This record gives sequence, C-alpha cells and structure tokens, in this order.
Amino acid sequence: MKTNIKKVIGLFILAVLVSFSLDAQTKPKVYILATGGTIAGTSSSQVDSDYKAGAITVNQLLSAVPEILDIAEIKGEQVANIGSQDMNDEVWLTLGKRVNELLKQNDVTGIVITHGTDTQEETAYFLNLVVKSDKPVVLVGSMRPSNAISADGPRNIYNAVACAIAPESKGKGVMVVMDDNILSADDLTKTNTLSVGTFQNPNYGHLGIMYDGKPIYTRESVKRHTTKSEFDVTNLTSLPRVDIILSYSNATAQFAESAAIAGAKGIVVAGVGNGNMTTVLMNALEKLRKEQDIAVVRSSRIMTGPTAQWDEIDDDKLNFVASWYINPYRARVLLMLALTKTNDYKEIQRMFAEY
Ligand code: DGL
Repeated sequence: MKTNIKKVIGLFILAVLVSFSLDAQTKPKVYILATGGTIAGTSSSQVDSDYKAGAITVNQLLSAVPEILDIAEIKGEQVANIGSQDMNDEVWLTLGKRVNELLKQNDVTGIVITHGTDTQEETAYFLNLVVKSDKPVVLVGSMRPSNAISADGPRNIYNAVACAIAPESKGKGVMVVMDDNILSADDLTKTNTLSVGTFQNPNYGHLGIMYDGKPIYTRESVKRHTTKSEFDVTNLTSLPRVDIILSYSNATAQFAESAAIAGAKGIVVAGVGNGNMTTVLMNALEKLRKEQDIAVVRSSRIMTGPTAQWDEIDDDKLNFVASWYINPYRARVLLMLALTKTNDYKEIQRMFAEY
C-alpha cells in the first residue's frame, strides 16, 4: 500500500515537472532589454504629468504585466536606465551588439526594448541598420508614467511581446509598438508631445495594428534594413560625430562652422521646404565640404514629403547629399553609419536612396 502511495506521489511529481518543462519549452523566449524612459518612470501623483523617467527597474516594470508570462518565457536585462534625451552612442553600440548576440541563439524568438519616447525614432532606426537577424526586434515606450491612471505602458509591453513572438513579424525590420499600432523604424516620427498615439509613419503609413494580442500587417517595410543592411557594429567602439543644423529666415553660418571646429565629420541640415537653406549657410557648407571634407546632407524640417535631389539646389555641384524621405534625426544616424564606410558623396547619396 505504502509503495503504491509512493509511486503515485512520484508519478505526480514527475508529471508536474514534465508539464513545467514542456511549458517552458513550448513558450517562445523573449528578451526584454530595458533602457529607461517614461515607461519606467514614476510620478508624484496618479494624475499629474510631472515624473522622473527611468525610476523603476525592468523587473518592477514586468510585474505590472504578468499576462506576458502566459504567452512567452521572459528574460529581462537592464541595459541602461535613462531618460532617452540622454541616449548616446555608447548605449547604441552596446544595444546593437547585445541584440545581435542574443538573436544568434536558437532558442531566442525575439527582442523587446523598452525606451523613452523622445529619441525612440533614432534608436529604432540605428538598430534597423545594424541588427543582423530576421527575428523581430520591437521597441516600446509609453507616454504616461507607470503609476498614472490609464498608464499606457503595460498594454504597450504586452502588445510588444505579442508582436515579437508572432511568426509573421519576422523580416519586417525593427518596429515600434505603441497605442495598438505597429510602426516601422524606416519612417518613424514622434508627432505629439503628450498624446499616447504620438508615433506615426507619416510618409509610408504604419506597418499594421495589434488586435486582440495578434499583429495584423497591412504593408511591408519598403527600405533596406537588418539582414540586407551593409552596416556592422561588431568592431566599432565609437561613431563619427554628426551634427544637425537648422535653417530658418536669417540663419547664419555660425553653428555649422562651430560644428566643424568641434570635430563634426558630417552635418545634416534640417532645411526649410525641400531641404533649402539661407545662401550664407549654403556657401559655408560648400566650403566645409570642399576644404575640410565634411559630409553634408540636406534634409527638411517639414514632416512629410521627400527632400529631393535635382530640385533648387545642385547637389552634384556642391557634393551634397539629399536625404529623400529620411528626416534630420534619422539622417544623422544614417550619416554616422555611412561615414564608418565612406566619405564619397555619391556613395552616401546611394545609401540615402536605399535605406
Ligand atoms: N524624457 C523622456 C524620455 O524619452 C520621457 C518621455 C517618454 O519616455 O515618453 O525618456
């Protein structure tokens, strides 16, 4: 009788262990790399908009969304804990290398990166150009702190994980999931200082939506990215300095000249209209290009439409590059990576047409 009871208990324990390990095996593994931002922020009250970004850790953050453990096996890593206004090249290189390392592991299905929204478009685009895998990489943030009424972070994180484990999310390039939208890094812009639906793909339209925890895609990314990208961070320990200069009525040449003195290897102009600028600024940039080999990219302060070549400005004569659909913030990222390979304006122009 005793032996029978022992057998039954033994079989029961075995069954529990097997079911646990089957469960762990059958759930896709997702790494959540945390970098800070409002999604990890707390406010002094549930209704005010004052808050401290990056105040809570990845584990505290995840405890707000226990539902993700039903759909995935989660591993959390704290890569940084900063407001994304302080995002920098060092964290980018660390992230790029870590994402590549993790995605090489067969048992890793995808990666979710929590990030402040202020510079999310820059980090997403950087990763879009340096990740060497088809597996999903999804950035996520929130516009309300973690302890606000109707905090958007938990839903966004759930959706981001659900997006990262979906087989149809492979090969789409780096994405951002927020406010039930799936956005592509190739055309990402923050469009509103406070709204939870702040991110848009204003030129190409969003990639799709998250509906009942599943992605529904309505377009592909139209640009070169990830496995098709020629950029590689494996051996990089720093990135060339590139500054952004704004044009406006009466803009002088002073800031462009200061950027050169500070060591900029490239300058992106957030120009007026179709990447235009004051004559004095254009003359100064022409000189910097010719005499100091500083790469010049024309982009626009206008949110939609291309900064086209062959318009009012003769780029070939000036050896300038037109950014097409790449806004000044993403143009800076692409130019930094382009300059790790070449300073030939025709080659850089090719990259701006392709990425
Ligand atoms: N300064 C912020 C950041 O980007 C908070 C804004 C946010 O995350 O929405 O980290």
